[in-house]
Amino acid sequence: MEAEAGTHLPVLLDEVTFLLRPRHGGWVVDGTVGMGGHAEALLERGGTETRLLGLDRDREALARARTRLARFGDRVVLRHADFRHLDGIAREIGVDAAQSVLLDLGVSSYQLAASERGFSFGTDAPLDMRFDPSEGPTAARLLQRLSEADLARIIFEYGEEPHARRIAREIVTRRHRTPLRTTVDLVAAVKTAVPRRAWPKGRHVATRTFQAIRMAVNEEVEALSEAVPAAAGLLAPGGRLGVISFHSGEDRIVKRAFLSLAEGPHLVLEPSPVTPSREERRANRRCRSAKLRVLERIGEPHGAR
Ligand SMILES: C[S@@+](CC[C@H](N)C(=O)[O-])C[C@H]1O[C@@H](n2cnc3c(N)ncnc32)[C@H](O)[C@@H]1O
Repeated sequence: MEAEAGTHLPVLLDEVTFLLRPRHGGWVVDGTVGMGGHAEALLERGGTETRLLGLDRDREALARARTRLARFGDRVVLRHADFRHLDGIAREIGVDAAQSVLLDLGVSSYQLAASERGFSFGTDAPLDMRFDPSEGPTAARLLQRLSEADLARIIFEYGEEPHARRIAREIVTRRHRTPLRTTVDLVAAVKTAVPRRAWPKGRHVATRTFQAIRMAVNEEVEALSEAVPAAAGLLAPGGRLGVISFHSGEDRIVKRAFLSLAEGPHLVLEPSPVTPSREERRANRRCRSAKLRVLERIGEPHGAR
């Protein structure tokens, strides 16, 4: 069954709970707590000695997580924050070492369904796309001020869109006449730029462009590159970091960062990423491109500390 609009099915839930379950209590840090689905499962699985620090850049998501996780009482601490500052925030609230850290990247189904946020090409809305609507330029602002070359690079690199150059040119041509303000304006530019015969089957022609612009607006690649080493540094001996990505560029960043960390006191748990089962793919379209990679901090045997 497909997920209802606005509900968020946590991706790779069984795999995450199995691989990242805290085995001896202690802190779980969820850098992308979102609707709290993974957080809830990890708290349940970890038992009463487990505490959770959850971060999200989206205050509305945090409010939903707060309601969902209320029954765990003071075992849960939630903060409105960017996960690139995860280690600093953790230490500020007294978390010196984490048993598990999770980053489940990208956008939630709830955000896609919140039409006024501009993440989705399905409805007409202002081009915002910020995870934190109180910070940084909107998508409309970026589309207005980036050079054609930068737009093309972003759409190609973050969207892996083969028609990136044509789309960038069309955006620039249109904005000379009138600024692109809404999702409908951006969809129209993409549809004009990409020849009809090249429109992909099974996915909207603007999917990749929307993904790319969202990633640029939220500086998602930069945040991920900073967060992986910071999160690895926070792990207790035997602790694990899991990252779920939905885009091959992001997966490459995680893979390279893990390989470099494995030259120090860390171990890459699986050489190939964990991917969703056929059943999960059928039930949840959003999970289709998900990849989970897990890193473990090598340490003294438990109990030796
Ligand atoms: C895929 S959802 C997470 C869903 C969550 N695992 C669950 O089970 O409900 C990703 C969340 O990460 C948040 N997010 C994205 N980038 C972030 C960042 N740099 N710092 C903090 N939160 C971020 C988004 O606002 C979104 O709520």
